Amino acid sequence: MPRPDSRQKILRLFRDRPAAYLSGEVLSRELGISRTAVWKHIRALRALGYRIDAVTSRGYRMLGGPETLVADEIRSRLATRLVGRELVCHDQLASTNLTAMELGEAGAAEGLVVIADRQTAGKGRLGRSWASPGGVNLYLSILLRPSIPPWEVPRLTFVSAVAAARALQDATGVMVEVKWPNDLLVKGKKIAGLLNEMSAESDAVHHVVLGIGLNINMTAGQFPSDLRYPATSVLLETGSAGSRLEVVVALLEHFDRLYTEFLTTGLTPILSSWQELFSMRGQTVRVESGANARIGVIVGVDEEGALLLRTATGEVEKVLAGDVLPADL
Ligand code: BTN
Repeated sequence: MPRPDSRQKILRLFRDRPAAYLSGEVLSRELGISRTAVWKHIRALRALGYRIDAVTSRGYRMLGGPETLVADEIRSRLATRLVGRELVCHDQLASTNLTAMELGEAGAAEGLVVIADRQTAGKGRLGRSWASPGGVNLYLSILLRPSIPPWEVPRLTFVSAVAAARALQDATGVMVEVKWPNDLLVKGKKIAGLLNEMSAESDAVHHVVLGIGLNINMTAGQFPSDLRYPATSVLLETGSAGSRLEVVVALLEHFDRLYTEFLTTGLTPILSSWQELFSMRGQTVRVESGANARIGVIVGVDEEGALLLRTATGEVEKVLAGDVLPADL
């Protein structure tokens, strides 16, 4: 069982030498504990939100302490019309989407934002789970009540994708690409995922929840080993920690403007911004939609956001929902 006072000593050693990598050997000597015990302390500190980089053959370097997300602080920085007028931050939730859906059911106002420092049952698309350790990433859900029919709700994915891409670029300098329909990638690795859920009748939407998960300071060891698609974070891409606070403020401001534009002008201008971030045209991919899988070359995306795929017969098929994977996976 690792002792908390050793943890304090590790923090002190990092603070005394802020820019240095401290090897496992040095830490184990200084503390008089085994290297396995050092590793356990590092893991425990990361779980508390300390951002600690690990580089093979160099050791560990402290990038920063836990950055707590506080609702008042986020709200005080926001200049939005609608989004985030009501905003709640939790240390832990099963899933921000689940809580936002429940609050939507209970009558919460449009624009409510639910944020969690960690999720114990973070939801991904297609019934998958979303790795959600504490202190490192952003997990948030936005509650909306748009006057659109249920079949237009998937269009909102393009609004959140463009908002998230712009926020990452503005607040961290990381340039992303979009992968149809719901992912943001950096050099082919997934840095963010989007999950829309709604409560609707056949022709009327009660409320929609847009869930956004952004990998900000997750380290390589924090990703699950069985990921279907390679993943990354701002920290892994830039080598320095991103500010969750700056990213969330930029995200909500971009989203607020784009959502207003969507409601007044429609999807066209947002889709053209999304197309600028889309570089998968010409790629041969496998698209899985339920039990159905087809291989084809991506031709583009139509004016409603459906994926256009040229299959072996030469015909261009319209795909409304699915998972795009490399053809050889
Ligand atoms: C995916 O790419 O599979 C979608 C991932 C969406 C994750 C976010 S994190 C915040 C919100 N709450 C959840 O439980 N999921 C979404």
